[in-house]
Amino acid sequence: MNESDERQGPLAPAAVITGATQGIGRALADEFAKGGHTLLLVARDEAKLAKTGREVSAAHHVKVHHVACDLSTAESCDRVEDALRRNGLYCESLVNNAAIMRAGFFQDQDRETLLKLVDLNVRAAVDLTRRFLPDMLARGRGGVLNVASLEGFMPVPYQATYAATKGLMIAWSRALAWEVYGSGVRICVVTPGPIATDLHAKAGAEHSRYVVYLPLMTPEQMAEAAYRRFMRGNWVIIEGWLNRLIAFVVRFVPGIMLIPAIGWFFRVRDADGNLQQPKPLKKPEDASRRPTSKA
Ligand SMILES: NC(=O)c1ccc[n+]([C@@H]2O[C@H](COP(=O)([O-])OP(=O)(O)OC[C@H]3O[C@@H](n4cnc5c(N)ncnc54)[C@H](OP(=O)(O)O)[C@@H]3O)[C@@H](O)[C@H]2O)c1
Repeated sequence: MNESDERQGPLAPAAVITGATQGIGRALADEFAKGGHTLLLVARDEAKLAKTGREVSAAHHVKVHHVACDLSTAESCDRVEDALRRNGLYCESLVNNAAIMRAGFFQDQDRETLLKLVDLNVRAAVDLTRRFLPDMLARGRGGVLNVASLEGFMPVPYQATYAATKGLMIAWSRALAWEVYGSGVRICVVTPGPIATDLHAKAGAEHSRYVVYLPLMTPEQMAEAAYRRFMRGNWVIIEGWLNRLIAFVVRFVPGIMLIPAIGWFFRVRDADGNLQQPKPLKKPEDASRRPTSKA
């Protein structure tokens, strides 16, 4: 089914899942479908969305709709709302999962890509939540599941901007959870540690020590725990004893020790383990001009 289907009659509830064609989002789509929810899946790749929709629908016997859009663009959230309306649905559960990651020295990362990262990881989540939360509150049910990261609990050299977007998501989500407390609406944030998905390779971090040395959970394990605890109404979902320990300990370690240790884990390396070096910088023209002193 696609976004052009126009429906009449009362609206039916649906779970809107962003970034649902692979990784954690795909596994969450299966979990929500298993729970009997009608789905609206969102990602950029139309063909992958259609295939995911067919597979999830066949496996769990629920209706699965999709809308292809780039959530890092300002108009994309309008398209998600339109798709719901056209399919006769309203958003009962919103899963803000889509995100991109970039790794390496900040000054060497492409500026446009960094801005897209902020737009996707933060702006789209805030925009979609602001659109759908008022009706959830009016109905007194439903909820928002924000997919952040363990990285959001700490400053992370070489993934500084990505980690900061996840830190924002954690703080924002916990604050909203308090604001809506008692309304019947759940706002939860899940903070996965490293998961075996393509995210790290797409970011250029597949050889970084945190990927190589830390145990990787599967997206299915993560999604099962996230869905179960979202339905229970947990505010902050940290799965796995090591992740819980890390989230607890980083609060007490002084930055002077913590940040270099995290940098050691997250420094970008090549397949042979060689550390990435910053790109040589061009000297700005004005740096070669000495200030002239007036006698
Ligand atoms: N993997 C980990 O270790 C890990 C750890 C902690 C937290 N997380 C978080 O978990 C979430 C999912 O990560 P993942 O590892 O499953 O990622 P992934 O495998 O790279 O999947 C990302 C999904 O987001 C979609 N997407 C990417 N850019 C998009 C855009 N501009 N607009 C709409 N959709 C877009 C992708 O589909 P298209 O490319 O077709 O758009 C895909 O469906 C993210 O929020 C991530 O930060 C992951």
